[in-house]
Amino acid sequence: MWAIVTDPERDHSRWEVDQFFASGQATVDDLWQVATGLGLPARSQRGLDFGCGVGRLTRALGAHVDTVLGLDISRSMVDRARRFHEGYPNLAFAVHERDDLADFADGSFDVVCCLLVLQHLPSMAAIERYLHELVRVLAPGGLLMLQLTTSLPVAQPATGLRARVRLRTRLGGVLRTVGVGPGVLASLLGWRPPMTMTAVADERARMLLTSAGGHVVWTCPRDLGHGEQDCLYLVTA
Ligand SMILES: C[S@@+](CC[C@H](N)C(=O)[O-])C[C@H]1O[C@@H](n2cnc3c(N)ncnc32)[C@H](O)[C@@H]1O
Repeated sequence: MWAIVTDPERDHSRWEVDQFFASGQATVDDLWQVATGLGLPARSQRGLDFGCGVGRLTRALGAHVDTVLGLDISRSMVDRARRFHEGYPNLAFAVHERDDLADFADGSFDVVCCLLVLQHLPSMAAIERYLHELVRVLAPGGLLMLQLTTSLPVAQPATGLRARVRLRTRLGGVLRTVGVGPGVLASLLGWRPPMTMTAVADERARMLLTSAGGHVVWTCPRDLGHGEQDCLYLVTA
């Protein structure tokens, strides 16, 4: 759960399950309220949660949408999502290893959700392809709830504390490759897995969403501190 929502307060297994899922419900409910105020979505039968993790937002969407499919590249996340949601018959989860959504026809979903995901894709080209795909699978009058990292801090030279943290990250990486568990490394070294991120500038994101056939109807840019910014988008097709 900490790998999904990296709240420093919840570092290393300090998320309570109920609080974790409540955080997803609060996020989705807030966006849903804004969207319904704008008359969206036109229908709410079929939902997609792309990059669903353990189903934090999938569950929340299931309170508003008849059926929701959660897709994630990670089999261990999908396994956990299924275990967490055995009593939720309107939710389904599947491993998704493709670099597109070609398994789904144009306009397949009334509601699409993709929060805290695209910044973790391996390249700008992959992010741009998915921005197109998320709009393509959205039905006319549908609702895409999207979050993107729009700006990241410029990398600083590794001196002092930063150099020690990088050394620890590298040492942890070496010990992981020889089979030392992440929990052991976290408690002995304070190690965290490295997390690479890619930002898409807001103007470029809007251009890509629009050229895919989307209409950006609402945005919420946020300053996350330390030079990091993101933006929430509501988009219709
Ligand atoms: C930070 S988590 C966010 C999970 C969920 N959206 C949430 O907010 O609770 C990012 C998730 O995206 C998934 N992911 C990363 N790249 C992906 C890809 N190419 N296709 C599908 N899922 C991906 C990861 O496995 C991880 O579960």
